Amino acid sequence: MAARIITPRQLLIGGGAIRHLAEVLTGLGLGRPLVITDPYLIEIGKLDIVAGILDGAGIPWDVFSEIREEPTTEIVGAALAKLRASDYDCLIGFGGGSPMDTAKAVSILARGGGRMRDHKVPAQNDEMGLPVIAVPTTAGTGAEVTRFAVVTDTETDEKMVITGEACVPLAALVDYELTFTVSARTTADTGLDSLTHAIEAYVSRKSNPYCDNVALAAMARLSMHIRTAYREPEHVEAREQMMLGANQAGTAFSNASVALVHGMSRPIGAFFHVAHGLSNAMLLPAVTRFSAQSALPRYADCARAMELCEARLGDQAAVALLLEELDSLNRDLGVPSPRAYGIDEARYLEVAPVMAEHALASGSPNNNPRVPSAEEIVAIYKEVYA
Ligand SMILES: [Fe+2]
Repeated sequence: MAARIITPRQLLIGGGAIRHLAEVLTGLGLGRPLVITDPYLIEIGKLDIVAGILDGAGIPWDVFSEIREEPTTEIVGAALAKLRASDYDCLIGFGGGSPMDTAKAVSILARGGGRMRDHKVPAQNDEMGLPVIAVPTTAGTGAEVTRFAVVTDTETDEKMVITGEACVPLAALVDYELTFTVSARTTADTGLDSLTHAIEAYVSRKSNPYCDNVALAAMARLSMHIRTAYREPEHVEAREQMMLGANQAGTAFSNASVALVHGMSRPIGAFFHVAHGLSNAMLLPAVTRFSAQSALPRYADCARAMELCEARLGDQAAVALLLEELDSLNRDLGVPSPRAYGIDEARYLEVAPVMAEHALASGSPNNNPRVPSAEEIVAIYKEVYA
């Protein structure tokens, strides 16, 4: 069966890529962007880089910066109102996954209308929305290349997955020089998110030969450089490799899907406001243990790509090393358990069955090598708590 690979029309990747923002816009016939970003990026002067480029090129623009957490229907609604108040012809998602996902969601509602929940899976949003230019400042969610956005429904606390070609940005500028100021915590969380993307894409039931190579290359980069990027924020090679790895992991999972970790992670984020990458990291070792025997050669390939063992080591032993490494990564990068994070045990256990339902409804667990029942998902939630 042919794999269908969708990527942005333009991908500028490397140090200084951001400096091409104005020419990319002009080349696409766009000239009136609304920049979607967060207040922190304004505070630390990051938006000034974008401002300097757009002002320098005489491109009129404005900014929506009310993004304080992961996107919600409320925030998307506010951004949409700002968009409709003037004649913007495109959106620039500037920041981590939240500004980029918000830009995608606004783009779909601007053209497709309706409420956000009308667009959640299983709906397919393939009709071109308002053009989105993505500029990530973390390495990262891979949102600059993916056909997904995640928006929390303010009324139900459900993290809704929005998918389709409309979610793929028209262009992405991927510049690792924007990541030197990212905190150690965010570096770890976003890097572990990327590693999860690569592993899940590779073991996914929707994996394909194109994404396999991209995912393995991503795993190699991310696993080799994540600890250095965490400890030495201005390490040029580590930052460059992490950005490239995150982008490749994004391409891989966008076209091969994520699986059980992401399915279970989103509800933890929605109920307990844990950063996306962090809730993935809390789950990755346990979900890998749960799934390993159902795709042993694939997980063993992951261990080999991450250079945890010699190529000739048998699958079972290689997977044992992978499981050890995932635990050790969490220790080295300060990933807490839900209990250590401060999540109330009674509340966590109370909502675990609902979280399992939301996880299954997202569709991601169906891509897992071992497809879990609701009871098995609840058991994994309980296992990772302590
Ligand atoms: Fe993710």
